[in-house]
This record gives sequence, C-alpha cells and structure tokens, in this order.
Amino acid sequence: MKKTDWYKDAIIYQIYPRSFCDSNGDGLGDIPGIISKLDYLKGLGVNCVWLSPVYDSPQEDNGYDISNYKDIYKPFGTLDDFKVMLNEMHKRGIRLIMDLVVNHTSSEHPWFKSAISDKNSPYRDYYIIKKGKKNGKKPPNNWSGFFAEKAWEKIDDEYYYLHLFAKGQPDLNWENPKVREEVKDILRFWLDMGVDGFRCDVITLISKDQRFKSVFPTLAIAGKQYYVNGPRLHEYLHELNKDVLSNYDCMTVGETVLSSLDDAKLLIQPEREELSMVFNFDHTDTDNFFGAKWFYREFKLTRLKKVVDRWQHGLFNCGWNSLFIENHDQRRCIGRFGTNDKELRYESATMLGATYFMLQGTPFIYQGQEIGMTNGDFTEMADLRDVEVKNTYKLAEKLFFLKPLIKKHMFSLTRDNARTPFQWNNQEFAGFSSVEPWIRVNANKEFINAEQDLKNEKSINKFYRQLIEFRKNNEVIKNGAYTCLNKNNNDVYAYKRKLDDKEVVVISNFKNKIVKEKLIDELSNYKLVISNYSNKSNELQPYETRVYINY
Ligand code: NOJ
Repeated sequence: MKKTDWYKDAIIYQIYPRSFCDSNGDGLGDIPGIISKLDYLKGLGVNCVWLSPVYDSPQEDNGYDISNYKDIYKPFGTLDDFKVMLNEMHKRGIRLIMDLVVNHTSSEHPWFKSAISDKNSPYRDYYIIKKGKKNGKKPPNNWSGFFAEKAWEKIDDEYYYLHLFAKGQPDLNWENPKVREEVKDILRFWLDMGVDGFRCDVITLISKDQRFKSVFPTLAIAGKQYYVNGPRLHEYLHELNKDVLSNYDCMTVGETVLSSLDDAKLLIQPEREELSMVFNFDHTDTDNFFGAKWFYREFKLTRLKKVVDRWQHGLFNCGWNSLFIENHDQRRCIGRFGTNDKELRYESATMLGATYFMLQGTPFIYQGQEIGMTNGDFTEMADLRDVEVKNTYKLAEKLFFLKPLIKKHMFSLTRDNARTPFQWNNQEFAGFSSVEPWIRVNANKEFINAEQDLKNEKSINKFYRQLIEFRKNNEVIKNGAYTCLNKNNNDVYAYKRKLDDKEVVVISNFKNKIVKEKLIDELSNYKLVISNYSNKSNELQPYETRVYINY
C-alpha cells in the first residue's frame, strides 16, 4: 500500500470513550454511543478520530491498563460494534487512530498472571522482574514512577516487578524480542481491520537502561534519566516501522513525555522511519515549575511564545508538529493560559482556539473543547476517580500538607477535570446517560452544552467549524513559515504565517482588559477573515482574536 502524508491534512478529534456518550444506560460511555454521534463530528468538520483505549481492561487507569489487546472492554461494546463504528467513520470521511498502550499491560493480562505465578513461565521475561536487595527486603533500586508511588512492587519474598504507573500496570520488557513480536502482532491485527494509525502511549519509556541504577532520591519520577528516551528507543521504533507500519498507509503520534525538541527530531525526521509526529508538552508546562503540574505557577504569555517559537522553528522543514491545548490528562483550557471560564468563556475559548489552530502542524481537539466545557466542579475527594490524584493525595497527606489546602489543589489540577461526561444537553445527566454516570456531571450543563451552544449567537462550536474550514486546503497554514511578531509583549500574541507572498496574521489578546495594538494599523490592506468580536479598531477587547490574510 502506498504510504501518504494524510496526517498533515488531518483535524483530529479525541474521544475519551467512557465520558462521550452512553447508549445503554449503564453510566459509562460506549461504542454504540460514539456511532450515534458521528454525524455531530462530521458537522464539526473533523476528518480523524483518536480513540482513547477501548480494549478489555480492569480499568484501574481507565483503560490504559490492557488485559486483552484484541478485544473490547465489554461495557464499551463488542468487536462487531467496533467494526461498525470504523466503517461508519470511514463512510463519513473520518479516519480512526487507536491508542497503543505497550509500555505496560494490565496486571490482569494473562502474560503477567503467568509471569508472576511461575518462575519458569515463558512469559516471565515479558516483564521487568528482578530480585530485591538485602535478601528481598528492599526493591532492586529506588526508582519511583509517575503516579506518586515507588516503581517496584513485591511479587514474593525475593522478587519485584517494575511499574512506572499504577501497580496494576506492569512494564513490559522490550529487551525481549518476543515482546516486540507481540506488539507487531497487535499492530497488524488492528491495521488489517482497517484502522488508520496509533497514538503511542508514553512511547519514550519503552527502553530502560539495563543497569537499573539507583539515583538521588526525589518524590516523583526518580530514575527518569534511566527510563526516559532509553538506549534502544530508536532501534525499537525503527523496527516496528520497518516490519509493520511502513506496509500500511497509517500514521503514528507518539506521546513523548519529558522529551526535548532534539529528542523529537530524532523520533520524527521522515528519513529515520520511526514516528510521524509527537506530542510535546512544553506549552502545558508554562504554568508550573519543573514540568510538574502539582507545582503550579501563574501563566505568563512570553513563556508560551518562547515554547511555541522553539517548536515551530525547530521542526520547520524537518518534522511535523502536533497542536493541542487539551486532552484527557490536562485540565480544560478555558480558565487556563490566563483566560476566563465565567463571563468571558466564549471569548477565551475562541481566542485560544484561533491561536493554536493557525500554527503549523496537525491540530487535535479534545471532546468538549469545541463547546467550551470547563473543569469539573468537584468539592469532595469522593467525587474524584483518577488513580493519579488519589495516590498524590495520599502522598501529600503523608508529607503533612494541610488537608484543605491540598484538596483545593487536587480539585483544580486533577485529570478528572477533563473527564466529566460530555454535556450534550441540559437534561439531568446532560444527555450523556439516562442514569448517574461513573463521574459527576458538571452542574454548568444547564447552560454549557452542545445543544445550547449550537443555538447561541456566540457559538464556540461554530467558531471551531470556521477554523477547520479555513485550515482545510490552505497551503499557507499547512506549509507557511511562522514568525512571532511581538516576542516580548506579555498581553498580545501576534504571529505571521507566510508562503511565497501570501500571509496569514493572527492577533490574540490574552488579557482580560482592552489593549491597544499598533500592529493592527499596519494591516489596513489585509482582510479580516475570522474574529470573535465585531470590533475593527486597533483596541483589542478582552480575549479578542483576529485572523487576517493578504490574498
Ligand atoms: C499516558 C496516558 O495519556 C495517561 O492517561 C495514562 O495514565 C498513562 N499514559 C499511563 O498509560
């Protein structure tokens, strides 16, 4: 099959299945629910879906813990439902990429069950199982993982297994060629069924430094220098590409935690034949210290510009960017990046939308972002569901932080914020389900919901439709060079995209105040094609955004 770069023209919509649409009244989203909303997605204009995991799983980490890679989690539906969904998507010109979670499996996976119950099991070497120190009393080293826990769990008196995420997510041993063959087999299974690619979960963690050295202790991700971008990462990815991916017209986007621009280049330069794109998280770290979301600091626009400049210039003509401002691990963008989630919610949502959509790369929209959904309205720890926040809360308690303080912090930063049920309408359970869902519906479904938004004169969804329409077949947006026009300005983000003599200029006010912007005076010969106010003066209103063209 001829390989194409279709992903460069894709507008990708991420579905988090358990929170999208529940068709059978069990409080959990499902595949038939997704099928029932495909016309909605078609109306929005997206041409690809990234589906978070739907595989069989005990759901300790909402499906990122897989117990059978070739079957569907029963409450989500069956393989036949999946095939119908894929077919219905393709009929509508929507491609489908799956979530590929192969740094770890679930501890309920038959491979793992066999590996820990029998030292001679053929699956023993599928995992990273090591003898503890001090006659098994201490773990093999002092690494800790991503979910505020030690990275080793005891199997018996002597042995431990490595888990960089929850205990129920044992890491696979990629050093073992059999594991790599299993991964290839999984890829072929779904590609042969017709899926169009994969979002590769924490893919930069798959190769561990085999010395398993201890490090200077830290609270979280101790040992990361030995397991992020490990020694054989590129070799493994190239192998998957050569043996499987290159034979299909598919794409891959790697979730590359803790990776720099230079790391990314090695992963996506086309001639290296590894991945198509990566997700970089530098912009999501513009409101924290040390790249750790729990260490919150106030957002600063110049910090964001620096990051965007680095990636837009860095990958120009040598790789392809992915563009996103939300996903299931991030809090909602409204109220973030200096914006306002109350009375200026429309302005904030549309300003952020236009600002990232006109950059070079493939844009991703996370479910609910297109109607301006906000963070959850949690008030009790019992409202929260995520394993990460629960572990972090326990750790913070142990460290004697003041409870009311940590709770507030947990509520505003938890990943659950992006996982509340999709708000389709203002009914009791927001049209998501006919019963109480697995996680609380936000009370603001009364006025923030898809049905209402599409009726509003100020509709966020319709604004996104405009952005999508504008991007489609637009060579300047696809290939034009990017230049920031006001690097040191902390209120307004202005940038230009230029291809030959055609230009697109984006000007966005990131502040909740009126800002005079002289640049606008220089654009008198340009056409204003998209904006979120009807204003034309050189005084930008709070969170105003404008897209101009000169052709
Ligand atoms: C990244 C996924 O996006 C996140 O939701 C998950 O918890 C971890 N990887 C572990 O799979």
